[in-house]
Amino acid sequence: MSDESLARIQARLEPFEGWRLWHLDRVVSTQDSLREALEQGEPEHLALSAGIQTGGRGRHGRSWNQEPEEDLALSVLLRPAGRYPPLLLPFLLPAALYEALGTMAVPRQKLRIKWPNDLLLDEKKIAGVLIEGDGSGAYLCGIGCNVGRRSFPEELRGRASSLRLEGLEQTSYPQLLEVLLLELARMLSEAEKGDWSRVLHSYAQGFRYLGEEVVVETGEGGIHGRLESLGPQGIRLDQGACLDPGQVLAIRRLVDP
Ligand code: BTN
Repeated sequence: MSDESLARIQARLEPFEGWRLWHLDRVVSTQDSLREALEQGEPEHLALSAGIQTGGRGRHGRSWNQEPEEDLALSVLLRPAGRYPPLLLPFLLPAALYEALGTMAVPRQKLRIKWPNDLLLDEKKIAGVLIEGDGSGAYLCGIGCNVGRRSFPEELRGRASSLRLEGLEQTSYPQLLEVLLLELARMLSEAEKGDWSRVLHSYAQGFRYLGEEVVVETGEGGIHGRLESLGPQGIRLDQGACLDPGQVLAIRRLVDP
């Protein structure tokens, strides 16, 4: 990322209390670099991005690969600390990404949030979220988005894509980083004041299945119903069923009732 882009993003973050961006050229994982900063006493609202990530991590112990200087790798340090529930984060991060991509002229009707927090473009994964707690109230929130990537390994073709491969080659990762960080800072400052309405509205809009017949998969089987609402306080179906989001593995649309 150029010095001009970095300085511009840093300047735009200034109005938001405590927000700052560190950019490193090359890291193993932005999650690990952010954890080191946390251990050295850095307070929350520190965002750390990298141009090259050599050992990026995904959820469930998977690895996360990115194309050097083309894709977005970002980790943000947050401390909900009684102001909002940590369980809001799995909703807030994809909601902010959905809004940022929509602002950047990615057609919203082609974007979909897949439970819990993957972002799909034309049903192919373009972004993922990894949230790691430190056990004492701090959360390392990682977002990876395939922006300028040109190819994927054979086994991922058809299931994963990038903005460039979907015809949005004019977008660069510093541009997305700027819009995303501003959206995150806005949503979090609202959440810190107890207002989650925009987060849940954006998540629901991106998620698409509200009001539809779905199957909610938990470790103990699938529960069928009409999806009424989703948020940190529960996944509500008609007839009163309310599931703890932490127990929900997948939510799929019931295609053949
Ligand atoms: C997933 O879909 O499995 C989550 C992928 C999260 C990847 C991001 S890239 C920035 C941050 N650093 C990491 O090592 N992982 C996350």
